Amino acid sequence: MRKKIVAGNWKMHKTCGEARELVLAVLAGLSESLRQRADVIFCPPFTALDTVSELVKGQPTVFSGAQNCHWAASGAYTGEVSAPMLRACGASYVIIGHSERRQYFHEDDALLAQKVEVALQHGLRPIFCVGEPLDVREASGHLKWVEQQLQLGLFDLNADQFAQVVIAYEPVWAIGTGRVATDGQAQEMHAHIRSLVAHRYGTAVAQRLHILYGGSCKPSNAAGLFSQPDVDGGLIGGASLAAEEFLGIIHAC
Ligand code: 13P
Repeated sequence: MRKKIVAGNWKMHKTCGEARELVLAVLAGLSESLRQRADVIFCPPFTALDTVSELVKGQPTVFSGAQNCHWAASGAYTGEVSAPMLRACGASYVIIGHSERRQYFHEDDALLAQKVEVALQHGLRPIFCVGEPLDVREASGHLKWVEQQLQLGLFDLNADQFAQVVIAYEPVWAIGTGRVATDGQAQEMHAHIRSLVAHRYGTAVAQRLHILYGGSCKPSNAAGLFSQPDVDGGLIGGASLAAEEFLGIIHAC
């Protein structure tokens, strides 16, 4: 039985002070039984990562993560942040391949594979995002699309490396749109991802893998999604920015 994971991707929201307030409010609402039901990951902007990491330090079921990292460990890359820097800030996870990075920053599969590699080398667990745009879904190409993203982004890893990876299925048409995948659409894709992983790395690795759903997930729809056998929790955008809403989603685990 896989323990659920609920991760908040704050995107470009929250100053350091606001981050502190939000994390403290969520921690105050995390009862012992909730902590047993779900691991919680906060992914603030880089500027609040140190603050958030300090707040969750020593809490065995609560973690911090970054939203991106550079593909190199160091170098002349003005404005960028590297995996070892994130680790030193206390981050345990890093989101890689979010559709907003793919779309607005033109990150392609080969680059994302490099980022995954550098994250793992420096002790960060990648939360690797996949998901199809609307036209691909409408043409029924979604399963093939995600298969290609997994093959190019992850499947060159060895089994030990892969065991550190969390996958997030985020259909692009559901992100920030209020249009959520149905429970059945999520389950179909998550089962597909797990079967591809089983084929590549074996059943034991596939059974241990956490596959999160992301895209307009809210307290009102989380329980249905999370009750699907292959949905292991959520990667939450908008609804992770207010403590009650985020806690409402954790309650659905
Ligand atoms: P929303 O929950 O705001 O749709 O965003 C999902 C997402 O992109 C999480 O990474």
